[in-house]
Amino acid sequence: MTKALLDKIVDLAVRRGIFFPTAEIYHGPAGFYDLGPLGSLMKHNIIQYWREFFILRETKINIYEIDGSIILPYTALKASGHVDKFTDPKTECRRCGRIYRADHLIEEVISISVEGKSLEEIEGVIAEHNIRCPSCGGELGEIKPHHLMFKTEIGAAGEVAFLRPETAQNIFLDFKRVYYSMRCKLPFGIAQVGRSYRNEISPRQSLFRLREFTQMEIEMFIAPEDLNTHPSFDEVRDVKIRILTREEQLKERPEVVEISAKDAVEEGVVPNQYMAYYLARETQFYMSLGIPFESIRFRHLLPEETPHYSGGNFDLEVRFSFGWKEIVGNAYRTDYDLSTHSRFSGEELAVQHNGRKVTPHVIEPSFGIERTLYALLEFSYSEDERGWPVLKLPRRVSPVKAAVLPLMRKDGLDEKAYSIYSSLRRVPNPCYVVYDDTGSIGRRYARADEIGVNLCITIDYQTLEDDTVTVRDRDTKQQIRVKASELMDIITKDTLRPVIG
Ligand code: GAP
Repeated sequence: MTKALLDKIVDLAVRRGIFFPTAEIYHGPAGFYDLGPLGSLMKHNIIQYWREFFILRETKINIYEIDGSIILPYTALKASGHVDKFTDPKTECRRCGRIYRADHLIEEVISISVEGKSLEEIEGVIAEHNIRCPSCGGELGEIKPHHLMFKTEIGAAGEVAFLRPETAQNIFLDFKRVYYSMRCKLPFGIAQVGRSYRNEISPRQSLFRLREFTQMEIEMFIAPEDLNTHPSFDEVRDVKIRILTREEQLKERPEVVEISAKDAVEEGVVPNQYMAYYLARETQFYMSLGIPFESIRFRHLLPEETPHYSGGNFDLEVRFSFGWKEIVGNAYRTDYDLSTHSRFSGEELAVQHNGRKVTPHVIEPSFGIERTLYALLEFSYSEDERGWPVLKLPRRVSPVKAAVLPLMRKDGLDEKAYSIYSSLRRVPNPCYVVYDDTGSIGRRYARADEIGVNLCITIDYQTLEDDTVTVRDRDTKQQIRVKASELMDIITKDTLRPVIG
């Protein structure tokens, strides 16, 4: 492949309606993307699969999903620490006026991480290494904090508020309501899927650094003494996870440690069973979506990168064509959020557990949907012998499950095909099936492969005689002849086909 994979995927995504820049006809601002018809189907399928995997299957612990407001009041985000601390360092070129995220610029130019360093220290690194504006060579100005939240105003009085920077905050704010309304007992979880907003200094790499994005987050609330007794831990104890430990990151050639979830807890590689449980389940989840084991690792954030309230953060990173990038953040948030919200609001957020009051500790797996979607596109992208793209998407999340194709648009083939297509769409719980009768059959197969259609169903002259059709598999290109009446069953089984195991 000559062109960079990222560019090929962006080309395909824009051309075929997976994603494209927001307000493109007005050259809209960077960092905003709309999902097109196929991207929004994929997003829907990813959320549905995630919900099944992480919420519905969790029968020993209840996890409740909420759908909270995007606009949150100043007081709530002041308490959470976002008003004071949610910033990135920026610098402006004194000559051309370009603005850079200073820590990223340093990392790109001299491969040094300045995470956790003060603004003065970052300025010192820029001066020491004489880092200049990559665009014009000009001198870079003073390092200033750039606030990441989007500010807005509520009502005629103009009360200051912000767009939420993470969906997690609604969960902490709603904790008491959910606890009492659902008659919860520790441990339990609250989840939310929804938009988050960060006014990033330099959005980049298409869906990677956005100013508006979607998170799927779970906050698990656990009594601190129970952090090492996850009721379903036995299901994952032998699952291997790949961890890039803090010690390894300090070496010249860091190596990933491959360890079972059980050993990771016993050897203190992860802080507790709940964290290990999620690292194991996330490994299974992404592998079931076609990301190879060796392309997944959990990086234990270094002390200077770890938020002050956290008892350990493990980022799930995937090896992309442009390097390892985080797609899920896992944090042991301790009791920080509930304690601070309790202090600021005056509300009691401790709950009864084993006859005493406990402020629960929190384990938080936080998934980014757009990064997950991009990962699935990159790992499923291939080209056929003619160099035409084929998206070998996991069957569960591919946007279109089947395409119904009449061999010809005449002799009653089209009517027959249309009636089969309609019968597939008019069932309870239909899956997404399309009808395509334009162009040669080869062209139509290629068009379907390019967007990852799982199966192509062709209606030919034999169909008119015996009601059978051919079903072509996207990945193997094999065709089988089946009865039209069996199609729904075949498509459903095919959709549920696991990628591995
Ligand atoms: N509540 C914890 C939290 O928000 P995070 O590591 O900042 O943690 C979690 O974000 C996930 O959200 C990331 O792993 C990523 O997938 C996604 N995410 C965060 N910032 C993003 C951005 N600017 N653009 C796209 N996705 C983003």
